[in-house]
Amino acid sequence: MTPPRVRVLHGPSLNLLGRREPSIYGTATLAEIDRGLAAEAAELGLAVECFQSNHEGVLIDRIHEAAGSCAGILINPGAYAHSSLAIADALRAIALPAVEVHLSNVHAREPARHTLVVAAACVGVIAGFGALGYALGLRALLPHIQRR
Ligand code: DQA
Repeated sequence: MTPPRVRVLHGPSLNLLGRREPSIYGTATLAEIDRGLAAEAAELGLAVECFQSNHEGVLIDRIHEAAGSCAGILINPGAYAHSSLAIADALRAIALPAVEVHLSNVHAREPARHTLVVAAACVGVIAGFGALGYALGLRALLPHIQRR
C-alpha cells in the first residue's frame, strides 16, 4: 500500500534558512529540514512532498493540487501567516487537515506577528520549537489523516 502523502509548504524567505537571522530561526537549512521530515514521515508510515515558494499564488496552486493527491498539509506560511486570507481560503476550499508550523515563537515577538490568519483554517499550530516543530507538526497531523 502506498503511504498517505503530506504536502509540506514553506513560504517566503524560508529558502534562506540557515543564514537568515539564525538567532531567531536557527541554523538548519531548508534542505536539512526537508530531509528530517522525510525520515520522520517514513517512521510514521507517511510520505512527504516538500515545496518552497516566495509567491502567495504559487503556494495557493500547490494547496489546490494537493486536494487530488494528498491526505494532509503541513505549512509554514512565513509572513503570509499574518495576513493571507487567500491562503486560508485555499485551505478551507480543499478541506484537507492542515497544521501550521512556525520556527519562532511568534506570540513572543512583535504584535503584528500575533495575528494568525492562516491558522484559523488549520487544525492546530506549533510555534517556537525551531526545526523540531516540523516533526511535531507531522506527528500532530497523523491522527487527523488516519481519521479520514
Ligand atoms: C515564521 C514567522 C513569521 O512571522 C516570519 O515572517 C517568517 C518565519 C517562523 O517560522 O517563525 O518568515 O513563519
